[in-house]
Amino acid sequence: MSVDLRTRVDSEQAPVAAATFFRETLPALFDAHQAAIGPGGRELRLPDFCIETEGEPWTLAWQGDRVAVKAGHQGAARVRLSAEQLSDLANDQSTPVALMSNRLLDMPEGGLGDFLNWWLVLRAALDARRIHARGDVTFSGPLRKSFTPGTSDAELRAFLEEFGYLHIQGLFSEKEMAAVEADYPKAVPHYEQGDPRAWFATTKDGVEHLVRMEGFERFSPATVALIEDERFRRIGRIPGLDHAERKPGARVGALVKPIGVVKGISDVPWHKDCSLGRHSYECCSLTVGISVTGADAESGQLRVVPGTHRALVWPAPCVQPGLDLEPIDLPTRTGDVTVHLSCTLHMSQPPVRHTRKVLYTGFGQRPVDPAAAEANRLRLQAVRSKTHTSVSQPPGYLGE
Ligand SMILES: [Fe+2]
Repeated sequence: MSVDLRTRVDSEQAPVAAATFFRETLPALFDAHQAAIGPGGRELRLPDFCIETEGEPWTLAWQGDRVAVKAGHQGAARVRLSAEQLSDLANDQSTPVALMSNRLLDMPEGGLGDFLNWWLVLRAALDARRIHARGDVTFSGPLRKSFTPGTSDAELRAFLEEFGYLHIQGLFSEKEMAAVEADYPKAVPHYEQGDPRAWFATTKDGVEHLVRMEGFERFSPATVALIEDERFRRIGRIPGLDHAERKPGARVGALVKPIGVVKGISDVPWHKDCSLGRHSYECCSLTVGISVTGADAESGQLRVVPGTHRALVWPAPCVQPGLDLEPIDLPTRTGDVTVHLSCTLHMSQPPVRHTRKVLYTGFGQRPVDPAAAEANRLRLQAVRSKTHTSVSQPPGYLGE
């Protein structure tokens, strides 16, 4: 079971014209992929859904176990898209969650849940993926397991592929974590309001906190020592897919999680890191969390839903209603490391008793066409850089 889930290449993206797409492309794909759509689709609430592109309405209707595409506006849910938005949606460059995050979701009738249910149907048809149905994802053992640095690569790989996450205890020492923590105040003066690499959040006492410093390794020799260490680099080799390190200057985000945030992003609700799009071009990447201080239910721990990387389900902003897969907590001690796949649903729990410090870094798949991938990534980043200032309860995508 490989965690290379890519099925598309940026340079081979097909143009999408609404009339042809709805009249010819989609009906043929719905027929071709009926077996992937039927079982999961039956479990979803799928009221007739109108997609209006540049004023041209087409309605998707669930009839029996099949999808019919009709000209015109029928039904109780409707989204209005530009031609570019339809094209990006069809080509998996964007998602309903991305539109919502950027405040571009225009739904005069119905809500995000309607769009997300139909998005699952569209993805199944467009990407030849099976919509998750109850009982599809099973496991060979308990959902919760921790490992040590002495665990073999083969065992770590097998667990990561099946469950979608890893918890490695004591990969780094308390002394190494103390050195990283000591670099926090030295880095702070390099981040100010307006810098997309600096994220701020306000607590209920009205105080504004710097909660995330992207590119932290530029100011932390202790962090550079960690990410150049074989103990860290080994993680990138666990899937056996030649994952690449992140770009210099943007390798590590250093987070502080204050208690009682009322504005800005500090704790991210349930999401897959591909929730804004590009799943079929990039997944799975690996996100690595290094616990500079420990974390538990009272201090901002990570939670994941094991197995969701194997399931076509809502990618955000909550666990899909009725999902038969269960969340688990991942409490950590100082020096522990968590790894999750970009397609594994995860969230960080708001701290209530203790603040927390954590570094997030990771490894990505090497694109087949780096230039085309970079051009499309830049367009997506425009969405990402706006979300942490414009949305107080965002869906996720945030590399944590
Ligand atoms: Fe994330």
